[in-house]
Amino acid sequence: MVSRVIPVEDFDLVIFGGTGDLARRKILPGLYRRYRSGQMPEGARIIGAARQDQDSAVYRKLIGAAIKEFVPEKYRDSKSIAGFLELISYIVIDAQGAGGWSDLKKLTRKDVVKAFYFSVAPSLFGDLAERLHTYKIADSQSRIVVEKPFGRDLASAKALNAVLAEHFDESQIYRIDHYLGKETVQNLMAVRFGNILFEPLWNSQYVDHIQITAAETVAVGSRGAYYDKSGAMRDMVQNHLMQLLCLIAMEPPNEFEPDAVRDEKLKVIRALDPVNSSDIVRGRYEANKDGPSYLEESGNPDSSTESFIAMKVNISNWRWKGTPIYLRTGKRLRARTSEIAVVFKDPPHSIFGKQEGRRGNVLAIRLQPNEGMTLRVTIKEPGPGGMRLMEVPLDMSFADALGADAEDTPDAYERLIMDVIRGNQTLFMRGDEVEAAWAWTDPIINEWQERGDMPKSYDSGSSGPEDALMLLHKDGRRWREIKE
Ligand code: NDP
Ligand code: BG6
Repeated sequence: MVSRVIPVEDFDLVIFGGTGDLARRKILPGLYRRYRSGQMPEGARIIGAARQDQDSAVYRKLIGAAIKEFVPEKYRDSKSIAGFLELISYIVIDAQGAGGWSDLKKLTRKDVVKAFYFSVAPSLFGDLAERLHTYKIADSQSRIVVEKPFGRDLASAKALNAVLAEHFDESQIYRIDHYLGKETVQNLMAVRFGNILFEPLWNSQYVDHIQITAAETVAVGSRGAYYDKSGAMRDMVQNHLMQLLCLIAMEPPNEFEPDAVRDEKLKVIRALDPVNSSDIVRGRYEANKDGPSYLEESGNPDSSTESFIAMKVNISNWRWKGTPIYLRTGKRLRARTSEIAVVFKDPPHSIFGKQEGRRGNVLAIRLQPNEGMTLRVTIKEPGPGGMRLMEVPLDMSFADALGADAEDTPDAYERLIMDVIRGNQTLFMRGDEVEAAWAWTDPIINEWQERGDMPKSYDSGSSGPEDALMLLHKDGRRWREIKE
């Protein structure tokens, strides 16, 4: 296997919110793994920034502890950890005040890539952008990385885009959707556009429907305050599931370049039909022996927020008219599994006569866990006794096929941060994409609010509310099982 890793230039990466949960859990452990695998240039520097008054030595201890907590033991060795921590320093800074900014100006170097990760509350994005400009810390080549949620509706997303655009060009803004950094999500594009097999069948003539599932076993836990203002629609559908839908449904871009890909994704979002309320099922989990109910965890007894959503989406374009896409995501479900399943139509005529229980071809692309692909094909049942058909999976686990340990696959964050340094925006959302996604989502949420819609209860550890099953049953279809 020939492996080609694009080298990374020397860089200064400033992580605003460098003491926060995301920085400790994802960003810095991800950077450590890159360092350990020898893919970080010698001239890399990482600067944590937050208000907490501490020096670099104390900050390094914090990050050392985060690596211990969040990086699997087999990837931790004291030499690599010590070497990585040497790249790190800390600066006390207030996003809304004057303190620290002149020092940051002195600390950052000229002639290297400068990236600024906004790992703080979105309400501070404007303050950070303005100060980076006012103190002349950022230049026309610098990049900013912004986290989700990118707005909570179209108006707030537009306002956020406008604030960032005052100081940064779109080519400098990297809006993170970590699903785009997952290995299999990129593989989806390789499978679609790197093989002749699938693309000719990739349309409503041959595809009966598509299912996109992102099921979680975790509850909202300590994130209740945030989650209750968001819900599954804003937290997962508007961004992660929408991105998956775009990649599965878009036209082939003419090249694998940021704007070519993002133009095609945008066309898909703009072609989405409004969704009928009868094609949406919202749910929220009940308590069981393993944990409290959504209502208890959210801390809001009057909550009308959903922790589960299933919906049927139609795309009005030549390729997909008549082929629905079913989306489903929720917390506290039976298993943690994310997959995209393309369910093909039956052949136009069966030369074998009527065969009970035949289910046709399905291409299932598993995002997690155990990333891989399965193609369900029909064969003859072995043995004598006539021509009976059966289905078997052509199964490919990427880890098995590539001889890799699943844990060796780079985490979405480490891949995406390195793409920022390389200046590659392909796996980041453009401002107009985010706005279009909200423009589609807003009327759905507004209608729930106007109707006073309440989510249906579902048992923790189940596949969601019963009504979600009906969503497909009424179309003569059924969901794939949620299982690891
Ligand atoms: P935390 O609350 O854990 O951390 C916030 C960070 O911001 C802290 O380092 C805090 O340090 C710093 N901060 C707060 N106010 C200021 C200020 N005025 N000036 C400078 N620094 C400040 O948040 P998370 O790490 O969880 O989240 C960060 C961002 O990432 C948010 O936008 C969130 O929505 C997003 N996100 C988080 C995920 C996660 O899993 N945690 C997942 C996806 C997105 P101090 O108080 O010392 O200043
Ligand atoms: C985040 C959501 O963006 O994605 C969380 O805010 C969710 O609620 C998480 O749990 C799921 O990510 P993953 O990578 O675990 O599927």
